[in-house]
Amino acid sequence: MKGLQRIGVRFLLGCIALNIGAAYAGFNKGLLNSCESCHNESLVNQVDIYPILHGQKQGYLEAQLKAFRDGTRENALMADIVKGLSDKDITQLATHYSNQTFFKAPKQAADRRGADVRARCVSCHGLSGKTINTEWPNLLGQNSGYLLNQLNNFASGERKSVIMQQIANELTPEQRQQVALYYDQQGRAQ
Ligand code: HEC
Ligand code: HEC
Repeated sequence: MKGLQRIGVRFLLGCIALNIGAAYAGFNKGLLNSCESCHNESLVNQVDIYPILHGQKQGYLEAQLKAFRDGTRENALMADIVKGLSDKDITQLATHYSNQTFFKAPKQAADRRGADVRARCVSCHGLSGKTINTEWPNLLGQNSGYLLNQLNNFASGERKSVIMQQIANELTPEQRQQVALYYDQQGRAQ
């Protein structure tokens, strides 16, 4: 019986390895390591203006990497990095990060004004900051410095999005700060 169990476990492990192998066939680990020099868990915990990519929506990550590559989204750091990426690299990196989890403890907010501003975001970013489709970004637990930079860039038109440029412009600079803090302080269960 023990022997049979052992074979069963080995078979299961083999299946898991095969599945991972299929999803990551030809996955460029060196490339991922280059991303991890900035987007790794411990750094994004410390550097508030770096985005957490773990658990972000797959379609959204792909679209952003392509936008950096074709210059429709401008950022000096990212532009250089994505220059040589193929569509396949982009799909694999987006798939990798969207499958990761990230834990961030929630913080008790003394200031509840961000929760009121959040009411304007719910229809697209979900009640808790998790969107219902794969194309729009989750905001839940994202770093506040990064979120605020994006809202300011949408407001100034430096970052383009028909929807978000209008929404960011309807907020005062204080409201942008409050809502960025709100999403950060919600933390992430995983
Ligand atoms: C030198 C540091 C650095 C490296 C290396 C780096 N990034 Fe970034 N990345 C950033 C910064 C900073 C931003 C935020 C840009 C902004 O404020 O618009 C960013 C933004 C992004 C975004 C947009 C996230 C969002 O929520 O819209 C994606 C996707 C991304 N990076 C993926 C990658 C991938 C994949 C790699 C590796 C191929 C990589 N990055 C390597 C610093 C880096
Ligand atoms: C009508 C739908 C809609 C509403 C309402 C909306 N958003 Fe968005 N939001 C989007 C879409 C779509 C994007 C992706 C834009 C792109 O393609 O770059 C986005 C992107 C963002 C980003 C960039 C995230 C990242 O990872 O870079 C931030 C920050 C953001 N929204 C904040 C907000 C806030 C705060 C509110 C409420 C005050 C809000 N949004 C309301 C649709 C919406």
